[in-house]
Order: sequence, then structure tokens, then C-alpha cells
Amino acid sequence: MLHKDIEEVLVSQEEIKTIIKALGTALTEDYANKKPLFVGLLKGCVPFISDLLKELDFMLEVDFMDVSSYHGGLQSSGDVKIVKDLSTAVKGRHVILAEDIVDSGQTIQAIRSMLLYRGAASVRVVTLLDKPKGRVVQLQPDYVGRTIPDAFVVGYGLDYQEFYRNLPYVGTLKPSVYQTENEES
Ligand code: PRP
Repeated sequence: MLHKDIEEVLVSQEEIKTIIKALGTALTEDYANKKPLFVGLLKGCVPFISDLLKELDFMLEVDFMDVSSYHGGLQSSGDVKIVKDLSTAVKGRHVILAEDIVDSGQTIQAIRSMLLYRGAASVRVVTLLDKPKGRVVQLQPDYVGRTIPDAFVVGYGLDYQEFYRNLPYVGTLKPSVYQTENEES
């Protein structure tokens, strides 16, 4: 039912598996003895981190933050709102921030600065997708699964109007989906 709304699959299930294995290997090499705090940024990170965590072969703690900047639409509003904060203190900790996508970069930049201000020893970013064309701030994620073109994508955690997160791959929506939306509103 969901699949009929997809115009093009950009990152298939198989590709996602390969990407996550490679990210897992890189992080395992870099964080072997650091006991980092692994922070998932809700809600988009959920499918990604549930697969990535299983590839991380080192001691780590997991926590979550819920920040919102898109407010359900197609473009980042730039207004990064903390909906749920961490329950772990970050002072002196090495933090890995896990994202489904870095687009304008505003979300990650805001969270990264905040965690460094709170005294984190280091903050690095792992993202499944990187969309450098969308960038409005100077920020390069440390671990990138796949660089994608300047298109609005859904699936594997990414939403449009909160839907499509449960697709097992990443793809673009048919224009008719947005048209229907406009007609309804
Ligand atoms: C999306 C995505 C990233 C952020 C990236 O989150 O999951 O967190 O936007 O955009 P940026 O680089 O332009 O800041 P959203 O605010 O839509 O919340 P969600 O994860 O709950 O979908």
C-alpha cells in the first residue's frame, strides 16, 4: 500500500545493509576503548540505529533526544526545538550522535554545540544519509552512509507528514502525493 506512493528507490534494503556494516566497522575501530554515549535523535533514527547498534562491537551506553525542526513539512524550519532531552549526563563523555539524515545541518549543529557546552569530551555525528546541497551551515558529518541528491526522501525512518517511516528502503514520493495533500488542505 505504501509502495505505490514511491516514485524512485534511492537506497535499497540491500544497500542499507551494506552501508550499515561499513559504518559499524568504522565506529568499532574508532571507539574501541572510549565507552561512548550513543545518542539517537528521534524519531527518524529508529530503524537506522536499531540495525547499526548490532554492528557496534564495543562498550557503549544508549540514550535518546527528540528534537524537531521540520514540523512535518518539506523544509527545515531552522527552529530546533528540544522535545525530549537526554537522561544521561554528558560531561567528560565521548558522544556519538546518530541521525537518519543531515540536510540543512541546523539540527546537528544546534545539538552538537549544546552537548559541547554541557562538557562532552567529543561529539561526532554518524548519519545514514547526507544531503550536502541542503546545507545552510558549515558542518560535515563524521561518518556518512550515503550522500544523496537534493530531493525530499522518505522511508527507513524518514517521514512526510509523519508517514512513510516504516518503509524498509529510502525513496522519493510521487508528485501526486503532495498534490493530494494540497487539495485536501
Ligand atoms: C529531520 C531528520 C533530522 C533533521 C535533519 O528531523 O530526522 O533530525 O530533520 O534536518 P536538518 O539537517 O535540516 O536540520 P525532524 O525534525 O523532521 O524530526 P523527526 O526525526 O521526528 O522526523
